[in-house]
Amino acid sequence: MSQALYRKWRPGTWDEVIGQEHIIQTIKNAIHSDKVGHAYLFAGPRGTGKTTTARLLAKAVNCLNEDPTQRPCNQCANCQAIQDARFLDLIEIDAASNTSVEDIRDLRDKINFSPGQGRFKVYIIDEVHMLSTAAFNALLKTLEEPPAHAIFVLATTEIHKIPATVLSRCQRHEFRRIPVKEITAYLKEMCAQEHFTISDDALISIARHSTGCMRDAISLLDQLTSSGVDIDIANVHAVLGTATNQVVLDLLSSIRNDEMGKGLTSLHQSMDAGSDPRQLARQIVDYLRNLLLIKMGNVNQVDDTPEMIKQMQNDSKAFDMADLIRFVKLFNEAASGQTSSNQPGLALELAYAQAALKNQPAPVAAAKEPVKTEALPPTRKATTKDTTQKKIAPVVDTQKKEAHPVNVEPTQEAPTAPVQAGKSADGLTLNTLLEQWRQIRAIVKKHRPATEALLNSCKPLSIKKGVLSLGFASEVLRGRMDQLENTDLARQAIAHLFDADVQIRCVVIKESQNTDNTVTAPDESMLKTVLDLGGKLVPPDANPEK
Ligand SMILES: Nc1ncnc2c1ncn2[C@@H]1O[C@H](COP(=O)(O)OP(=O)(O)OP(=O)(O)O)[C@@H](O)[C@H]1O
Ligand SMILES: [Mg+2]
Ligand SMILES: [Zn+2]
Repeated sequence: MSQALYRKWRPGTWDEVIGQEHIIQTIKNAIHSDKVGHAYLFAGPRGTGKTTTARLLAKAVNCLNEDPTQRPCNQCANCQAIQDARFLDLIEIDAASNTSVEDIRDLRDKINFSPGQGRFKVYIIDEVHMLSTAAFNALLKTLEEPPAHAIFVLATTEIHKIPATVLSRCQRHEFRRIPVKEITAYLKEMCAQEHFTISDDALISIARHSTGCMRDAISLLDQLTSSGVDIDIANVHAVLGTATNQVVLDLLSSIRNDEMGKGLTSLHQSMDAGSDPRQLARQIVDYLRNLLLIKMGNVNQVDDTPEMIKQMQNDSKAFDMADLIRFVKLFNEAASGQTSSNQPGLALELAYAQAALKNQPAPVAAAKEPVKTEALPPTRKATTKDTTQKKIAPVVDTQKKEAHPVNVEPTQEAPTAPVQAGKSADGLTLNTLLEQWRQIRAIVKKHRPATEALLNSCKPLSIKKGVLSLGFASEVLRGRMDQLENTDLARQAIAHLFDADVQIRCVVIKESQNTDNTVTAPDESMLKTVLDLGGKLVPPDANPEK
């Protein structure tokens, strides 16, 4: 099997390290003047060159070339040995592994022996923030008085977890995310040498997706080119699961035009097509950040194609600064927040809802807008507030207390045959229902995206005696779903698919009750805001609720 591209392309010289000039220059100067420190801390995001630079440092201090400015030379015996990972004085410890405590003790025991092969023993301790307290203490002892022949390079992605006692003993270098432009240029060079044919916009898209992480960028390129065919932007979208920009642009334009239903639909389509909601949220943040940069007059800092920059300039005019800042915060929360496997899209939906809600016209103005009711099921006209419902029959059900009145009036616009009260749901099991859950959502979505969004954020729990229990992570969501227009629509979709009438009961699941751990309560602050805003998860054109 061929070597992974990112390994093959691990920089062998200082000049090949991209985007970290500030660090490389300092270290190079130290090598040239023979004033290398004894403890370094390399902090920064994953895949930005920390381990690479640490190994270059190990090579340079042990390089046998007589001219310090030529180190590492990559020719001498020591450079070669390090290259081939057979240099005994380079010790790499993975602090995340469960042997790290012994490794650190071993380190302490052996550190005073002189190096065998080279001038310096170099210890690279990766993910150093993962060390246990005991291991940290052991390490600290050695850092306090390192022998002259030892050099430590501690690497971490989470500098805030490093004790101050350790920080104060190290020369600290912060690696930065590599800008899109520099990643793109690097990938382009790589493609030329590897004889890959790939379009420029595809490279930019890869670079943008990798969020400043060169390893990810190279891996994506590797994955895309492994088929051997020429690569264009469509291939990139296919592999990454989303036509990024379009969704992001759609969402923003829906916020701008108060078309929340449209925006949600676009969001769901993208997620249905396999987009990762967090990744999507990240892309939205990137885009919004660019709008902010433009707004502040720093368009030259925006890494993108001329066409996209033009689009961004237009978009930036449509929002004021305060809104953009608010949006960035909301989507950033969705990008970094916890997600559960059952409702990965929830945080993103809520962020979007919050962003869109503030932009909506005030309720009075909204009420004046014509209400579009075509293509919506008749049950929508009956709301829970509507106490004068006609042609409504109570559902025959064993659980009288929870029985909802259900509109049984058939109309042409209904998505399904009307629910026939009393039709048995005995044969319907939870598993069968789950298998068709996507299908149910798809039917519901056609009629009312907001209801589908709610179904997307719940977990079907059980079907007992004709009652389907849906679990929601919060009372807000449960309350939204537990309205006639929502439960009816879901019932009708189920009736359509299974020819069975179920009743729907909406419950809140507490995390502790949730035996199989698939529902996690979403971020409280987000829900609170939705609640504060009166739970207006309903798209403006969807329901004459009030
Ligand atoms: N600044 C960079 N310039 C060029 N290539 C880079 C750079 N950073 C990372 N790479 C590429 O990514 C690969 C992995 O980089 P490296 O191991 O140095 O990352 P890291 O910062 O140590 O990441 P992690 O935190 O995940 O350990 C390298 O082999 C190289 O191909
Ligand atoms: Mg590393
Ligand atoms: Zn050398």
